[in-house]
Amino acid sequence: IVVDPFDYVVFGGTGDLARRKLLPALYHRELDGQLPDEARIIGVSRRDKADAEYRDDVRAALTSYVRADELDPAVMEKFLARLYYVAADATSSDGWTTLAATLDEGRHRVRAFYLATGPDLFGPISERIKEFGLITDRTRVVVEKPLGKDLASARAINDEIGKIFHEDQIYRIDHYLGKETVQNLMALRFANALFEPLWNSAHVDHVQITVAETVGVEGRGDYYDHSGALRDMVQNHILQLLCLVAMEPPANLEAGAVRGEKLKVLKALKPITARNADTATVRGQYRAGASPTGAVPGYLSEITDGESRTETFVALKVEVENWRWAGVPFYLRTGKRLAKRMSEVVVRFKPVPHSIFDDAAGALAANELVIRLQPDEGVKLQLMIKDPGPGGMRLTRVPLDMSFADAFKVRNPDAYERLLLDVVRGNATLFMHRDEVEAAWTWIDPILEAWGESRDTPRGYTAGTWGPSAAIALIERDGRTWHEDTF
Ligand code: BG6
Repeated sequence: IVVDPFDYVVFGGTGDLARRKLLPALYHRELDGQLPDEARIIGVSRRDKADAEYRDDVRAALTSYVRADELDPAVMEKFLARLYYVAADATSSDGWTTLAATLDEGRHRVRAFYLATGPDLFGPISERIKEFGLITDRTRVVVEKPLGKDLASARAINDEIGKIFHEDQIYRIDHYLGKETVQNLMALRFANALFEPLWNSAHVDHVQITVAETVGVEGRGDYYDHSGALRDMVQNHILQLLCLVAMEPPANLEAGAVRGEKLKVLKALKPITARNADTATVRGQYRAGASPTGAVPGYLSEITDGESRTETFVALKVEVENWRWAGVPFYLRTGKRLAKRMSEVVVRFKPVPHSIFDDAAGALAANELVIRLQPDEGVKLQLMIKDPGPGGMRLTRVPLDMSFADAFKVRNPDAYERLLLDVVRGNATLFMHRDEVEAAWTWIDPILEAWGESRDTPRGYTAGTWGPSAAIALIERDGRTWHEDTF
C-alpha cells in the first residue's frame, strides 16, 4: 500500500544510523513499490555537499548495508533521485533558509523531521524548525534513544522538544517495537482465545526475557561506557517487551489505548532500591574470551581509558505488582559478548496440579511458550506427549513449533521499515509516549543509585559465555533455571 506523499528530513543524514538503518529501510520500501512518486528524502548535516555527492555516499551505504541480491540497479537509481542534501547547522542560522525553500515545494505533503543526532541537538534543532516556519499541520518529529541518562535528563529532553511540538507530533522510536515478532506478541495474545485465560498468576509460574548479543561495544565505547546495559537495553527495549507481555488487553490498537496499558505496567513495577538490589540484580562485565568470529579482547581493553565499572551484562528479577501478576517473577537478562545472539520471551506455565503418571524418569515438565524474536523468528509451545512405541506410558516433551521463515516465504522486514512509514501514516501505536519513557526512568533510577552507592564492581564473565555465574544463581535460588536454547 502506497503511503501519502512525504518529505523526510533526516538530521544527521550522513551519520551512522542514517547509513546503516534509515536509508536502507527506505530503500526497501522503494523496492516494494511503497513510496509515492513525490516522496523526497532530504539529508541534513553540517558539512557542505552537493546533492550528487550525497547520492554517491548513499549509494555506497546501500551497497554495504543492503544484501547484494536485494540491490536492484533501477530501483536504486529511482531511490537516489529522491535524495537531496542541505548543509545546515543546528546551533546557527546557516543553511536554514535553503532548507525552508526546499521544503516549500512540498508544503502539502507529510513532513517528517528525523533527528538522527545526539540528544543535545534535539532542542536546538526543534527551535530552528520553528523559527524558520517549517512546522505545517502535517509535520511530525522522530527522535531516537538515548532519551536521557536518567529521569531528570529525560524530562529535560522531553520539555525541550515539547516546547515546540505537541505530544501527538512526537514519535519516540524504540526499534524493538517495529520487530515483526514483537508485534506478534500482541497478535498471539489478543488474536487467540487460547492464551489469555491462562495469562495470569493462577497459571503462569514465571516469565523470562533474554536479549543476548555476541557483539561487543563495536566502536561505540564512548557512548556505551556512559550508558551500560541497564540504560542501553533494559530502560527501553526490554521494558517495552515486558509491557507487551504483561499489559491488560487494550480496547483497540490505537496509540492511546496501547500506550495507556503499557504505562500501567511500568507504574506497577516493584521498585528495586539499595534495599533489594543485591538479590534482584546482577551486573557483569566481559573479560577476554571468544565470539563466533574468534578470540576477542575484554571490555576494559576496548574502551579508551581502560578503567570502568560499566556493566555489559545485567540480570534482574522483577515483579509486577498488580492483580494479574502478583507473585509471578519476570527474570530479565541482556548482555554483550554472550554465547549466542538470541532474543526470546519465555512464558513458563505452572505444572499440572496432580500427576496420574508413573513418571519415574521425572519427564513430566510444565508447559512453556517460547516467543523467539531473533534470529530464527518463531513461536514454540512445549507440550507433554506419550513417547511413541509400546514401552508403556512414558512421557516426553515435544514442541508445537512454528518457524516464521518456514511458514511465510517472505523476507522479514527490518524494524525501521515499518516504523518509518508509520510516522508518515500518523500511526503512533508502536512509538513511546512521553509518560512511558519517564515511567521507565523512574523505575531505573533507583537501581542506578543503588549500584552507584555500593562498592561492588560488575562481576567478570568470559566473553562467549552466558554471563556471570551469579546470574544463574539469581534464578536458581528460586528453584528455576534459565531457558535452554532449543531453537
Ligand atoms: C540498540 C543498542 O538500541 O540495540 C545496542 O544501543 C544494541 O547496543 C541494539 O546492540 C540491539 O538491537 P538489535 O536490533 O540488533 O537487537
